[in-house]
Amino acid sequence: MTVSRCFEPLTLPNGIVIPNRLAKAAMEENMAAEGQVPDRRLWSLYEAWAKGGVGLIITGNVMIDPRALTGPGGVVLQASNDLMPFKRWAQAARSGGAQVWMQINHPGRQVMAAMGQVAWAPSAVNVDLGKHSKLIAPAQAMSEAEIRLTIQRLPILRNKHGRPVLRAWKFMRRTVICSANFSRH
Ligand SMILES: Cc1cc2nc3c(=O)[nH]c(=O)nc-3n(C[C@H](O)[C@H](O)[C@H](O)COP(=O)(O)O)c2cc1C
Repeated sequence: MTVSRCFEPLTLPNGIVIPNRLAKAAMEENMAAEGQVPDRRLWSLYEAWAKGGVGLIITGNVMIDPRALTGPGGVVLQASNDLMPFKRWAQAARSGGAQVWMQINHPGRQVMAAMGQVAWAPSAVNVDLGKHSKLIAPAQAMSEAEIRLTIQRLPILRNKHGRPVLRAWKFMRRTVICSANFSRH
């Protein structure tokens, strides 16, 4: 009988073990509570995903600046936050044994016009959605200083030896993404 490898653990080059090969992709839920923080609705959603037995949960994008959101219900994590709602969220997501990776995000030009916010992007090139392009806010080029300030908003997680434990850095056309593993902290 052939047993699917889907349910075998996967060890990453950095030693992290993902208990199986089923992953929940990043999907922004737009379910943040007042103050743009996770509350029981997001906690119970992630607990349900966790109890389903998935090996890796990548959160929906978590914004680093309340002035730059993809949607009104976006979760925002910044230095001034009370971490309790985020800890509860992490606990719920980890309750089934999955690795949980938070997708930390600055939306760049991917901002809906209805948000009434400035779409701070690496360059002033608008999103082209054909006849639907007006739904997206016009992109405004950031200065180098603004880009540096934005990068400073990205949390740097460190392990007990003080070494940074950011798992991945990607600069994409539309988005600055920094995926950090918060399952061990
Ligand atoms: C409702 C919805 C929300 C999403 N939110 C995010 C997100 O927050 N971050 C992200 O990187 N991708 C997001 N995506 C993209 C998905 O993670 C995934 O890459 C995309 O759906 C393509 O997956 P597929 O090839 O399996 O269909 C979202 C997709 C959907 C449908």
